[in-house]
Amino acid sequence: MAARMDVLLGAQWGDEGKGKVVDVIAPDYEVIARFQGGPNAGHTLLFEGQKHVLHTIPSGVFRTGTVNLVGNGVVIDPIIFLKEVNALMAIGVDVRESLLVSRRAHLILPTHRALDAASEAEKGSSKISSTLKGIGPTYMDKTGRNGLRVGDLELPDFKGRFRSLVNKHERLLAMYDRPGAPKEAEEEWLAAVQTLRSMKLVDSEHYLDQALRSGKRVLAEGAQGTLLDIDFGTYPFVTSSNTISAGACTGLGVAPNRIEKVVGIFKAYCTRVGSGPFPTELEDADGEQIRKVGQEFGSTTGRPRRCGWLDLPALHYAVMINGITELAMMKSDVLSGMERIKVCTGYTVNGTATDRMPYDITGRIEPILEKVDGWGELHTNEALPDGLERYIALIERYVGVPITLVSLGPDRAQTVLRQGTLVH
Ligand code: IMP
Repeated sequence: MAARMDVLLGAQWGDEGKGKVVDVIAPDYEVIARFQGGPNAGHTLLFEGQKHVLHTIPSGVFRTGTVNLVGNGVVIDPIIFLKEVNALMAIGVDVRESLLVSRRAHLILPTHRALDAASEAEKGSSKISSTLKGIGPTYMDKTGRNGLRVGDLELPDFKGRFRSLVNKHERLLAMYDRPGAPKEAEEEWLAAVQTLRSMKLVDSEHYLDQALRSGKRVLAEGAQGTLLDIDFGTYPFVTSSNTISAGACTGLGVAPNRIEKVVGIFKAYCTRVGSGPFPTELEDADGEQIRKVGQEFGSTTGRPRRCGWLDLPALHYAVMINGITELAMMKSDVLSGMERIKVCTGYTVNGTATDRMPYDITGRIEPILEKVDGWGELHTNEALPDGLERYIALIERYVGVPITLVSLGPDRAQTVLRQGTLVH
C-alpha cells in the first residue's frame, strides 16, 4: 500500500511550538510540507545554542536529506522569502537543493500589505490585530480569482499581470484614502521574485502523489492554530486560511484517505496574540509569570502574548475538528514551581454551564476552573514528576487521545517521548 501522510498542527491559537516538534521528528520523514498561512507564522527552533525563526520555509530544513515543500495553500512574500533563504544560506543550509515551491502558491504583493493596514485602520477598535503581512488581502485575491501565483513568474507577461493587480489595489487604497506601497517596496519585490523564480518550482500535488506512491513518508506542517481557523476559529478574530487538518488536503493536493496520524500541538497553558475572545485569560500575577518564564512574545511581531490557563473544552474541540490522534504538550517547564495551577473544564455562557465550545465566545463567557497540583523542576533524563503525570492523565481523560510527547524546554534535547512515540 502507498505510504500515508501525517499532519502536524496547532491545537490552540498558534505559537504552540510546532516548529520544535517538526524539527525533532523530521528525521522520520522524507518530505516536510507547509500547507497554509504565510509569513504571519514564526516557527522557532533552538539547537546547539542557536535560535532560528522560519516564516515561510518548512521546519525540516535543518535536517540533511529532508525535502521541504511550500504547498499551494501557502501565501509567499518574495521579500521575506529571500531574507529567509539568505539567512539559511549564510549558516550553510543550501535550500536550493532541499526546497520545493508549489506553482499554485499565491504571491503577497507590497500593495497587499498596504491593504491589510488599511483594513485594520478602518476597523478601528474592533481590529483583528493582524500581523500586517498582507495575508488576508492575498487570500481575498485568491478566492476572488484575482491573485498572482508562483507559476505566473514563468509566464512572459508576468510584469503586465503584476501591474494590473497593483493598479487595482491602488484604486482600492484610494477608496480607503490610503497611500499605495512605496516605489522602493515595489522595486525590492520585483528583485526578490528572481530568487523565487530560481527555486525548484513544482506541481506539488503530483510531486506528493509520486512521493507517497514510492513509499516516502510525508509530514504536513500547519501554521497558526485551530482556534485561528477561518471557519472554526473565533471568527472574525482569526487568520484567513484553514489551519485545520482538512487544510492539509486542500493546501497540498493530498486526498483525505491518505492521512494517517494527526498530531496536535498544544501548550500546558494557553496564549493568544492580538485581539479576540480568550475565556481563560489571566490578567494577574500568574499571567505575568507565565509570560515572563515562557518568554511569550511574538516571534514575528515581538508583541507580548496574552496568557491564560489551559482550556480543555477548546482542546477537545480541536481534537474533534482535526481528528487528532495524538497530542504533544509543550512548555510544561513554564508551569514548574507554580503553587496553584488551574485548568478550564467548562464554561458558563449567559448563566448556563456547558463543556462545548459555543458558536460565539465573544459574549459573556466565564471559564469553570479546577485547581490541580503543581510540580517541581523538570529534568529530561528523569521520570516526570507525579504532579505533571497527573496533569497529563487529566488532559488525556478529558480529550480522549494520548499525549505522546512532552516538551520540557526549547532545545531539541529537552523532549520526552511517552507511550510509544510520535516517531515510527
Ligand atoms: P493575520 O493572519 O496576520 O491577518 O492575523 C490574524 C490573527 O491571527 C491575528 O490575531 C494574529 O495575531 C493571529 N496570527 C496570525 N499568525 C499567527 C501565528 O503564527 N501565531 C499566532 N497568532 C497568529
